[in-house]
Amino acid sequence: MEHLQTQGISLPRLGLGTFRMQGEVCRAAVESALGLGYRHIDTAEMYGNEDAVGAAIAASGMARKDLHVTTKVWHENLAPDAIRRAFDASLKKLKLDRVDLYLVHWPSRNMNLPAIFETLLKLKQEGRTRAIGVANFNLALLKTVVEEIRAPIACNQIEYHVMLDQTKVARYLAAKSIPLVAYAPLAQGRAASDETLISIGRKHGASAAQVALKWLLDQDGVAAIPKASRAESQRANLDALKLKLDDEDRKAIAALPKDKRFVNPGFAPAWD
Ligand SMILES: NC(=O)c1ccc[n+]([C@@H]2O[C@H](COP(=O)([O-])OP(=O)(O)OC[C@H]3O[C@@H](n4cnc5c(N)ncnc54)[C@H](OP(=O)(O)O)[C@@H]3O)[C@@H](O)[C@H]2O)c1
Repeated sequence: MEHLQTQGISLPRLGLGTFRMQGEVCRAAVESALGLGYRHIDTAEMYGNEDAVGAAIAASGMARKDLHVTTKVWHENLAPDAIRRAFDASLKKLKLDRVDLYLVHWPSRNMNLPAIFETLLKLKQEGRTRAIGVANFNLALLKTVVEEIRAPIACNQIEYHVMLDQTKVARYLAAKSIPLVAYAPLAQGRAASDETLISIGRKHGASAAQVALKWLLDQDGVAAIPKASRAESQRANLDALKLKLDDEDRKAIAALPKDKRFVNPGFAPAWD
């Protein structure tokens, strides 16, 4: 598995997303993924599943250094003392003494960015998270964080898939050597039934979902965190790494409409 090097951490380019999995279903899915070779798990306090993720990690017996764990602080907890409380609760549920990456899950309209990053940096300096980062930050917010606050962010985790154009943010991140972590990389499962992707997959003996994933992972500086509860899908997503797309495939994917954003809650600042 290829890794992206960023702010002192080594991020496996394919991870397991865990949104909408909880309890036993989540624990079993994470255990299965670790057994298949996944070494990057994405969770968040908001998912209500850090305890299940922690149980799976503990049961795997895996050396901590071999595993990358990302968690996130919810937008309601962005005051410095609230971040600390949320962070402590996340570590406790995960049964870990540190995480690898701690992200601001969503920006909020009234957040104090300098205070947020001062707090996150302290957690990093204390060795309780190895790196810090953001999710769902638009170009204007990213510029503030990178150019004014100069926070050492290790990624921006954003919705990105074959049906959504992210050129502006992606170009900026690439210019600053900051990885883009693609969430909802399968367009929340919709990629699996797209006719264009199905026909590209047929040509290569692959599925439409595999085509969608490989299109992302062929892009420099991009990682992806598909959620898959079933072992067959987890394996298929790992196998997507072996797929070789050609120019004709990329041209067909580039021609797909790219205006479909599926995640856009009302509380956050507008995208563009
Ligand atoms: N930072 C944020 O604000 C944010 C927002 C949304 C998501 N995320 C993260 O990104 C992760 C992924 O996003 P997502 O869960 O919204 O959507 P997604 O990964 O694009 O799609 C998940 C869906 O695709 C299905 N699937 C997985 N592999 C498949 C395959 N090989 N063939 C066919 N179907 C397949 C899954 O089915 P089964 O589960 O039945 O296997 C599930 O229904 C989340 O779990 C979360 O960790 C972050």
